[in-house]
Amino acid sequence: MSKQKIGVLFGGMSTEHDVSVVSGTSVIKNLNQGKYEILPIYIDKDGKWFAYTKPLDEIQVPTVGQKVTHIKEISNPIEYIKNLDIVFPVLHGRYGEDGTIQGMLELLSKKYVGCNILSSSICMDKVYAKVIFEKAEIDQANYIYIRKCGKEYIYVDNTFTEEICSVDKIGDIIEEKLQFPVFVKPSNSGSSVGIHKSHNKEELIKHIEYASQFDKKILIEQTILGREVECAVLGNEQVEATCVGEILPAEEFYTFDAKYKMAESKVVLPASLPQEISEKIQNLAIKAFKAVGGTGLARVDFFVENGTNRIIINEINTMPGFTQISMYPKLWEQMGVNYGQLLDKLIELVE
Ligand SMILES: Nc1ncnc2c1ncn2[C@@H]1O[C@H](COP(=O)(O)OP(=O)(O)O)[C@@H](O)[C@H]1O
Ligand SMILES: [Mg+2]
Repeated sequence: MSKQKIGVLFGGMSTEHDVSVVSGTSVIKNLNQGKYEILPIYIDKDGKWFAYTKPLDEIQVPTVGQKVTHIKEISNPIEYIKNLDIVFPVLHGRYGEDGTIQGMLELLSKKYVGCNILSSSICMDKVYAKVIFEKAEIDQANYIYIRKCGKEYIYVDNTFTEEICSVDKIGDIIEEKLQFPVFVKPSNSGSSVGIHKSHNKEELIKHIEYASQFDKKILIEQTILGREVECAVLGNEQVEATCVGEILPAEEFYTFDAKYKMAESKVVLPASLPQEISEKIQNLAIKAFKAVGGTGLARVDFFVENGTNRIIINEINTMPGFTQISMYPKLWEQMGVNYGQLLDKLIELVE
């Protein structure tokens, strides 16, 4: 039998380009060369596609921010894709994790690893993911959301009724509806880019203006005081969940630097939690994944609230970090599935 041709997409046009380069290269290095013909496809920040010019065995997993070298531009990406059996989009953020690339692959009748168009786009948009979690009756932080409109903002209430306001008036609405500190997030974001914790109205206004550089839609959430935990899920109809992992960020919250630059950030695997709580998290992870219509894989992130042990969903990542030290593969390793076996399972799940 001839080997399956797997195209691994990495890099991409999002703020998480550099992280994807590390994730994608790790996937390329760990796919079984005996089983698959592996075709690495690097997408640069401008959206140009490239193939590697050096042999697979010579590819080194870079550090975050390192430039990709030994590449040659692919003159016709669409034709290139048509020649593949399966595409593995190891892309984080916009134009990769948000349903766009998935849509292109569907148009080309090309099979791909991971979440479909709808679940990818729901999970990429933090505000819409919240609407689904609400419907699924999964606890989450109280929130409001706004949209930038020229120099002003539109406050969108919980019936989607809109009101144009100055940023100062938005500050008043938030002060009335939520308590400081609050988290300000671009609705489409990842790797904590554009996210701040605001302790007062002055900071809030500054952080809203900052977040608006990344997305017109901005989410403002009540701060949850609790432990940060993550659970990996895998499957289509039959979804399995791993044990739970805990994040111990080196900063006040899990910022970009705390995620990728600070060795002081730690993960605890499995998290030291009462079994009952871990089981609830696993069940909620599967429930949330099904609620968004997920396929293939996702990492579902929660808080366990101090004092109450209430489990509060934070977000679903449809293409979680995939470096060898990332939580998603580490959680599966705890379950006895090593990185290479995990990649095989993901490819087997492609429908
Ligand atoms: N409501 C919240 N309460 C407390 N901490 C939060 C809250 N929302 C986000 N955080 C912190 O900010 C980090 C990044 O937020 P998150 O929504 O996960 O965005 P991203 O998609 O960029 O990972 C989280 O990992 C957590 O440390
Ligand atoms: Mg997160």
